[in-house]
Amino acid sequence: MSKPAKEGDSGEPTFELKFRLNGEERTIGTWPARRMLAVLREELGLTGTKRSCEIGRCGACMVLLDGEPVNSCLLSAYQCSGADLVTIEGLQGERAGRVKAAFLQEGGFQCGYCTPGMVISVSSLLEHNRCPSRLETEEALAGNICRCTGYGSIFRAVCRASEGMAEMPPAE
Ligand code: FES
Ligand code: FES
Repeated sequence: MSKPAKEGDSGEPTFELKFRLNGEERTIGTWPARRMLAVLREELGLTGTKRSCEIGRCGACMVLLDGEPVNSCLLSAYQCSGADLVTIEGLQGERAGRVKAAFLQEGGFQCGYCTPGMVISVSSLLEHNRCPSRLETEEALAGNICRCTGYGSIFRAVCRASEGMAEMPPAE
C-alpha cells in the first residue's frame, strides 16, 4: 500500500478487496477506485458482464450488489468491501433459471450483448415482484438498453418467466 494509484496504474495494487463473488469468499489486490466492471472482466475473467457506455446509461454491465442490481461501471472496488456480488456467471436459483429459459424460449435477444444485464435486472424484478405489470416491467428495465431494440420479445420473456411464480414461496 505504498503510493496512491488509480485505474490504469501499472504499479502494484494498493488495495486488498475482500468480498463474496458468486458465492465464494475472494480476496484480490486491486486499486480502490478501480471500476468493478474492469476488475470483473480484466482481472477475474468474468466477461459475461458487458462493457458498453461506461457511464451508467445502458445496463450492459449490471451485477447484483447485496441483492440489488447496480451498474458495475459506476462501482468502485472499495465500495464492494465485504459485499456480496453476483454476476451473470453466478446467477442461480429457480427464478433466475426461469428467466434464462424464458429468454431462450421467447427469443429475448438478438445480438445478445444486452442479455446478461437484462437477465440480472429481470431476475431482481421477479425476486421482489412475482407478477409485475407491463408498466412495472418497463420501469424495472428503464436502465437496460437494447440496441437491437427487440423489446417485444424481452417483455414476452418476462411474462413467461413470471407465469406460476405467484404460487412460489417468497424469496429468502
Ligand atoms: S456499461 Fe455500465 S451502464 Fe453502460
Ligand atoms: S440483443 Fe443486441 S443489444 Fe440487445
